[in-house]
Amino acid sequence: MSETLVTPKVLSQPELSLMEERPEPCALVILGGMGDLAHRKLYPTLAYLHQQNLLPSSYAVVIVARRDMNDESLRQNIGESLAKAGIKEIPAGFLERLFFVNGDLSDRDFYARLKTRLQELSKDMRLSGHLFYFATSPTLYPVILRKMAEAGLNNQEGLSTWPRVIIEKPFGTDLESAISINKEIHSILPENQVYRIDHYLGKETVQNILILRFANTFFEPAWNRDHVDHVQITVAESIGIEGRGPYYDQSGILRDMFQNHLLQLLSLVAMEPPARFQADPISDAKINILRAIPDMNAQNLVLGQYAGAQIDGKYLPGYREETGISSDSRTPTFAAAKLEVDNWRWHGVPFYLRSGKRLPRRVTEIAVHFKHVPVSIFKPLLAEELAANTLKLRLQPDEGVSVSFETKHPGSKISLSTVTMNFDYYKAFGISQPEAYARLILDAFIGDRTLFTRSDFVEEAWRVLAPVLEAGNKSKIIPVRPYGLTGGDWGPHGVGELLVRDGRTWDHF
Ligand SMILES: NC(=O)c1ccc[n+]([C@@H]2O[C@H](COP(=O)([O-])OP(=O)(O)OC[C@H]3O[C@@H](n4cnc5c(N)ncnc54)[C@H](OP(=O)(O)O)[C@@H]3O)[C@@H](O)[C@H]2O)c1
Repeated sequence: MSETLVTPKVLSQPELSLMEERPEPCALVILGGMGDLAHRKLYPTLAYLHQQNLLPSSYAVVIVARRDMNDESLRQNIGESLAKAGIKEIPAGFLERLFFVNGDLSDRDFYARLKTRLQELSKDMRLSGHLFYFATSPTLYPVILRKMAEAGLNNQEGLSTWPRVIIEKPFGTDLESAISINKEIHSILPENQVYRIDHYLGKETVQNILILRFANTFFEPAWNRDHVDHVQITVAESIGIEGRGPYYDQSGILRDMFQNHLLQLLSLVAMEPPARFQADPISDAKINILRAIPDMNAQNLVLGQYAGAQIDGKYLPGYREETGISSDSRTPTFAAAKLEVDNWRWHGVPFYLRSGKRLPRRVTEIAVHFKHVPVSIFKPLLAEELAANTLKLRLQPDEGVSVSFETKHPGSKISLSTVTMNFDYYKAFGISQPEAYARLILDAFIGDRTLFTRSDFVEEAWRVLAPVLEAGNKSKIIPVRPYGLTGGDWGPHGVGELLVRDGRTWDHF
């Protein structure tokens, strides 16, 4: 049984736009702006924001890359790329806001040229701020930061406008490298001018976790170890590594998904109510959850790597057959883990996390499984056990919230069924989900850091993973087993056992 529970007022796009704060005039400088991320995510998002009239009244997008281009060829290139991305009509006036500065980010002289160009544009367009978007390889971040500081691009004296930086993951590859990159960043900018993007946090339904928990009263009394049996968090992708071999093989699922997205989701579900709905109180509450998680250990971790499979008459290569991956790679593309949050609210409640590539379906879901009733008064009359209640937060696809509960089956004297009440986010509000990057870019323009990752969260997340990353690297004590041979497995052999040994099972999709 499925039912939408709300009938909210459906807002039109112009009405929604009016609810947004309009940022002050500023420039977005995309360092590495001719790459995959910029073309697939940033330009379609900026075009959307421009079309919705959400960008500042005056703004410039300054794109930096080494290739030989000028403003004209840049605009043509991005126009074609937007058309390929399915944007049929490029919003009027958008392409004219794009400017190209050619240069090598490791070359000191380049920064002087960039500064001059930014000063010219600031004067002509009356801009009051600069956002530097690091959309290039993270290996370049330290050099960019140092050279930006040498050129005075990190302060008001250098540019006579405020500077901020937006940084893309990965934020280091382990605790040590994360501390080192955070030190580099803080040597040129204070933390409140740094916007670390985890695009998951820009998704409407991820933001809705906090609204659901802290704008309603009836979840909170049950949101603890007295009532919750366990929590499952699943982030499954159906695609493989899609040509990102060299990057992925250095990273693997623990660094690529657990260190950021999964621990972000866990901290939002488990955190205490923050004192206020503001960036620092929210970050403090999330970090306290990570601090309460004991180091991960190998016994509570299952790793896997997708194998080649014949699916719908087509052969899909296994991970070790992908371009750029060695035939003996041990990089995991799947992980499932049991974590504890050892604080007063959650002591004894396991959090089971799983994520993988080439799984049967793309799905992201948080399932809060409540405890069984203490005593079933129906026991003598029923063949089977009563099902425990679950609350599911679906983050993708079909975003929404569902609650399952027991009800009487019509007819026979006592027969029960488990039913689900379903709230479908987009059916209810009648508006399609904007790209997560739209929210995040707009917030960075406005200066709202609520949905960005603070440096201490990054470091604490690496601390949680450190023991298993080390075990995987050095002693190879954690086996990496193949999965997906039939195209239908939700992980390798042993993944079920992680829950079965606790008397539980994974949710099915
Ligand atoms: N792609 C994604 O979906 C995705 C998702 C999440 C995070 N990220 C992160 O986003 C960042 C960018 O990823 P990407 O996939 O877009 O990379 P990419 O496709 O390799 O693009 C890199 C860009 O940097 C420029 N570049 C490289 N070296 C340069 C240098 N020395 N000086 C000036 N420009 C230079 C390149 O253009 P030229 O060759 O013309 O210089 C290109 O525009 C990375 O940190 C990545 O981890 C990417």
